[in-house]
Amino acid sequence: MTDLLYGAPAPGLVEVPKGAQQLSPLIPGAADIAKLPDAGAGSALVLAPPGTLERDFVLAQALRVLRPGAPLTAFAPKDKGGSRLKKALEGFGCVVGEDARRHHRFCHVLRPAKLTGLAEAIAAGAPRIVHALGLWSQPGVFSWDRPDPGSLKLIETLPVLGGRGADLGCGIGLLARAVLAAPAVTALACADLDRRAVECAQHNLDDPRVSVAWADLRNPPAGAADLDFVVMNPPFHDGGAEDRALGQAFIATAAAMLRRGGVCWLVANRHLPYEAPLGAAFSSVTLRAEGGGYKVYEARR
Ligand SMILES: C[S@@+](CC[C@H](N)C(=O)[O-])C[C@H]1O[C@@H](n2cnc3c(N)ncnc32)[C@H](O)[C@@H]1O
Repeated sequence: MTDLLYGAPAPGLVEVPKGAQQLSPLIPGAADIAKLPDAGAGSALVLAPPGTLERDFVLAQALRVLRPGAPLTAFAPKDKGGSRLKKALEGFGCVVGEDARRHHRFCHVLRPAKLTGLAEAIAAGAPRIVHALGLWSQPGVFSWDRPDPGSLKLIETLPVLGGRGADLGCGIGLLARAVLAAPAVTALACADLDRRAVECAQHNLDDPRVSVAWADLRNPPAGAADLDFVVMNPPFHDGGAEDRALGQAFIATAAAMLRRGGVCWLVANRHLPYEAPLGAAFSSVTLRAEGGGYKVYEARR
């Protein structure tokens, strides 16, 4: 009987059964919980995501795939949805035991034979076309139901690009779509850490010039090198906390993927200190636009 794990809890926070199957969409290679069969799993540990639709989708999926009577432990930091977990599980018809440790709430449930509201929660958190975007998206992916203002700032600043390029942290493909409007773009390698975003981008960027990879870009992916351009709106949060090293790693990855003379177009929140890593990795760095809390840089390798 399979044991399931959703997410990457801090070491020692919970006891993870040996060989547990990882299901987080943010861990490349993990299985997709939506593809697991009903009532087949023996236990589940779920580090619940903070967004309501995403959280309820994951909890409902976990209850769906557990056999009746099997244990589910759902947990989250108190200030990131932990205090709402009990109510969410009770809404599905579970009897919930709760405790707290290391700033987290833990909810313990034995999967009841009769559940309520699973289909509704699964439908509300599933991928769909978001009409405000005209794109496939899913609750939980970056800026899932509205265009990100940083990406829009970069789109309005970009020149018409050409040749072979990459979109690092492509999300559902908003920025990539704008880049592909230029016929001189011959190839665009897109990548993101979030499997759900990658699957949406595959729908949204149905173009023979595009490849979309599920990858952690803190290191350069194999294959895409000597590119003419990179575009990116790099992440600066990891697990909910600001992580400036992430953007700095994206800058190093972009530089490693470009040919000499190739350009990186980057948008960042104005407060982020990217000038020094850009200056270290590129031969010239020019601030091309500033406004709305964002800065757009053109960095030439
Ligand atoms: C600011 S968003 C930009 C999204 C997209 N380019 C757009 O136009 O809206 C940053 C993206 O980076 C992704 N990301 C976060 N950490 C990553 C990592 N280590 N490797 C690859 N992608 C990552 C996130 O999932 C998110 O989609």
